[in-house]
Amino acid sequence: MIKQRILVVDDTSSNIKILHAILQNEFDVSAVVDGQECLDFLSSQPVPDLILLDVMMPGMNGYEVCRRLKQNQATKDIPVIFVTAMGEVEDETHGLELGAVDYITKPIRPPIVLARVKSHLLIKNQHDQLKKSISIMEHDSEMMQQKADLGIQAGGLAHDINNILAACLFIEFLPEHLPESIPEKTLVQEDADSILRSLQLGCEICQGYTSYLRDIGSQAKAQPVLPLLQPIDMYSRQFKGKTIKNYSENLPLLFCKGYQIKRVLVNLFTNACQAIENQIQQVITIKVWSAEGEIFISMQDNGPGIPAEVVPDIFKERFTTRENGTGLGLFIVKEIIDSHHGTIKVETKEGKGTIFTLSLPESGE
Ligand SMILES: Nc1ncnc2c1ncn2[C@@H]1O[C@H](COP(=O)(O)OP(=O)(O)OP(=O)(O)O)[C@@H](O)[C@H]1O
Ligand SMILES: [Mg+2]
Repeated sequence: MIKQRILVVDDTSSNIKILHAILQNEFDVSAVVDGQECLDFLSSQPVPDLILLDVMMPGMNGYEVCRRLKQNQATKDIPVIFVTAMGEVEDETHGLELGAVDYITKPIRPPIVLARVKSHLLIKNQHDQLKKSISIMEHDSEMMQQKADLGIQAGGLAHDINNILAACLFIEFLPEHLPESIPEKTLVQEDADSILRSLQLGCEICQGYTSYLRDIGSQAKAQPVLPLLQPIDMYSRQFKGKTIKNYSENLPLLFCKGYQIKRVLVNLFTNACQAIENQIQQVITIKVWSAEGEIFISMQDNGPGIPAEVVPDIFKERFTTRENGTGLGLFIVKEIIDSHHGTIKVETKEGKGTIFTLSLPESGE
């Protein structure tokens, strides 16, 4: 293990020797003999984890060194412990005001030095950890914000495309303008019907996205589960295989953010559709039931299954085995389910298919 680094600043060589002897077993100790040397040392070396600073030194005294350290971004977080002669109480207060974390009085007593140094290094470590956690949290919340922004942009795009598609729905009436006598009228009618169906599907898909947009930011509330599965109907129209639905009756309410649970279900359904693309018989079975205060939703496909070595990675951000995948689907699913205090379980057998089962606590209302 790498030893933590301590810098001793003292003009008396016997003090340096004593401190070195006390600390050298557990720490990597360096020493300098005056204030200027201390500042030079810090500007040319990686900063130490703690400084033991003598107050009375010729030239720049310890207070001035401390003041300068605290003004410098690179050194301001290094804990400084002053080493003072007995009876300089006012001076000790002054040192603490300057930003030192503690003081040790001479004559130096080894157990006290060790105990103080260790306790301040511990505090420093905890402080560093906290800073790291905060910066990770800030990064995460920035990512979440970016995702929310993207969702909002996608919703806006869907809204505009919906308007364009809706404006084209008049194609339904186009064949009526043709005289009956035109021999191709039936053909035109069939083509117009087919275009109309595609446009209607496009509108429904866009409206699905804009409904997410409306929901975004809405509060969690107790709501029936089955309407949350409706977006799947929208997607299953493009799906060529068979969708089997097995929904229990009298399900309890679910306390959730509806649009988030819809996102989860659409992601699981899309993954299932993609997994069975090459199967001759394509079947997706969706079940919803409740038991012992939990609501369960499972999505089963008869696809190739997930290879055992891949299973531990599927919920990781950006993990994908698909050429055009972003690897965000299941990562988002997991985040949403965790935030709803639920669980997601995957059972898969190579060649036999995959079942994802969600379990979410039912609403107490
Ligand atoms: N039903 C399934 N059957 C087989 N493999 C699956 C299934 N669902 C997920 N996977 C595997 O898990 C991986 C991660 O899925 P995830 O939804 O997170 O990303 P993706 O589908 O690859 O991309 P996207 O972000 O576009 O959804 C997939 O690439 C695939 O290997
Ligand atoms: Mg996916």
